[in-house]
Amino acid sequence: MSSARVVIRRRRHPARFLAGVFHTKTRAYVTFTANVNDDPGVVFIFDGAVVHIVLVRIEDGAKAVKITLIPESDSAGRLRRSARSPIRVRKIRGTAMKIVVIGGTGLIGSKLVHILQQRGHNVVSASPSLGVNTLTGEGLAKALAGAQVVVDVANAPSWEDQAVLTFFETSGRNLLAAEAAAGIGHHVALSVVGTERLLASAYFRAKMAQENLVKSSSIPYTIVRATQFFEFVGAIAQLATEGQSVRLPSALMQPVAADDVAAELAAMAVEKPLNSTIEFAGPEPIRMDELVRRFLQANHDDRHVATDVQAGYYGIKVNDQSLTPGQHPHLGQTRFENWLSSQSQSMAVAH
Ligand SMILES: NC(=O)c1ccc[n+]([C@@H]2O[C@H](COP(=O)([O-])OP(=O)(O)OC[C@H]3O[C@@H](n4cnc5c(N)ncnc54)[C@H](OP(=O)(O)O)[C@@H]3O)[C@@H](O)[C@H]2O)c1
Repeated sequence: MSSARVVIRRRRHPARFLAGVFHTKTRAYVTFTANVNDDPGVVFIFDGAVVHIVLVRIEDGAKAVKITLIPESDSAGRLRRSARSPIRVRKIRGTAMKIVVIGGTGLIGSKLVHILQQRGHNVVSASPSLGVNTLTGEGLAKALAGAQVVVDVANAPSWEDQAVLTFFETSGRNLLAAEAAAGIGHHVALSVVGTERLLASAYFRAKMAQENLVKSSSIPYTIVRATQFFEFVGAIAQLATEGQSVRLPSALMQPVAADDVAAELAAMAVEKPLNSTIEFAGPEPIRMDELVRRFLQANHDDRHVATDVQAGYYGIKVNDQSLTPGQHPHLGQTRFENWLSSQSQSMAVAH
């Protein structure tokens, strides 16, 4: 047992307390007494890690609060130095929730998990590699126990016609049934702008089936339909490549940064369910051929983009309305040009 000074940073009432602190290898426990109205369930940021108040009791008009640190531990399970004293406790605004991110290891999922954790929520990242599988149901009930919100940003490993439909239908059914059993209050699903205009593709038929399951379930929901991610432009180029030529139509798009999509989902997850669909797009429209041209140029890729009105998008005929949002979409802030330069800067740092 050792003691340390705990600093509670509050805008109005900064206060200092002497606290009892003891560590085990993987946990740190702190007790302190505060003359403040701390509510049980409010989450504090504890020296960079998330802590929950586990006990609040009144003692001589003051509240004694016992805090359990959910530590940042290293791979050997040892507490990181940053989780040791001196300890700083910072109250965050709002009430923490348990939020399960299905597909939490993916492109969007990993960003979303990070944002929600930074905001002090109790986040469960769920995916097959972490023992949670929506196709088989493995680990679902345990992951969802006690959660208020589920955000589904999983994607099918195979986009082959039957496989992708089976994935979104079976996963959707299993997940929504498990959510009903767990009493989940808000299901947030990530889909794609224009899904109903792209049904010539099996992938979009599968996304439509996913949306329909969400809408017809008993769980209050919000569907966020995003446009294509900037991170997806390389795959668009790849699929349209024949030799050194990339054949693409000039249909309008309004792509968006994955960081912005994750931020939008993080915001929607803690709002009340809308029981409807919103659209989320990048800040500027851009033609598909031009988008890919700029991407290849920025990556010093000497493939040539040939504009071809007959060329499809993933085999589907598209026009200026197909991939662009309707009226009043929510907009991300990141411009494609800025994203491209941030990508090349991080590549330069990595080398
Ligand atoms: N690409 C775009 O431009 C675009 C645009 C709008 C919307 N979207 C939508 O955005 C969503 C997320 O896309 P993304 O690119 O972030 O996906 P991603 O990087 O491919 O990640 C897919 C995630 O799904 C998980 N997953 C796979 N099978 C699963 C299963 N059986 N049970 C639970 N989780 C499973 C994966 O887990 P493991 O890591 O364990 O395999 C991974 O975490 C998709 O639904 C997509 O339709 C995409």
